[in-house]
Amino acid sequence: MSTIIPLRLAVFISGRGTNLEAILNAINTGSLDAEVVLIASNNADAGGLRIAEDNDIPVIITDRNTFSDGTEFAEYILNALNNHQVELIVLAGYLRKMPPAVVRVFHNRIVNIHPALLPKFGGKGMFGLNVHSAVIDAGEIETGVTIHYVNEIYDGGDIIAQRKISVMHNDTPETLAARVLQVEHKFYPEVLQQLVEKIRSKTE
Ligand code: GRF
Repeated sequence: MSTIIPLRLAVFISGRGTNLEAILNAINTGSLDAEVVLIASNNADAGGLRIAEDNDIPVIITDRNTFSDGTEFAEYILNALNNHQVELIVLAGYLRKMPPAVVRVFHNRIVNIHPALLPKFGGKGMFGLNVHSAVIDAGEIETGVTIHYVNEIYDGGDIIAQRKISVMHNDTPETLAARVLQVEHKFYPEVLQQLVEKIRSKTE
């Protein structure tokens, strides 16, 4: 049995939350020494919020439009992260920029998963099927998954790990998206476990 104290995660989503589900499965089956203590969504209708409800995990809605200014918005997020003693922020399909104040406080403590091999096919507008269409249109023979730290530039933080997969000649954006997503579900929990071990080895 592992002796690692579970790392306290906040998972930020915008949509269906299948990566969130994969992270929770890895925790439940003992392959990830972590606990999801907070789920954040910029979108109150995100399908993935059902997972929060099913697992009794507190939720915050990070909708910038409901705050009068950016400072107040960042403070709201930082307070929630503090209250839940979050140690690592995990972005899993979160389609909003993290406020700079949060990025500063959580330097090297925010990670994201991107469904391509960054630095290619990243940046503004590169999300969902757009990414896979661009990969196919560019005639790439391989694509993959990138897990990286989050800084102030979209998809621009240091790369932590990548896994490659082949692009088949008959792939459509949809078939490619499905294969990449399958890899994500295994790869994200694995890389998160490596980060947990790294962080715990520094703090224990
Ligand atoms: C994933 O493909 C991830 O790489 C990207 O957004 C998608 C989120 O999917 N950042 P889900 O909400 O986890 O199902």
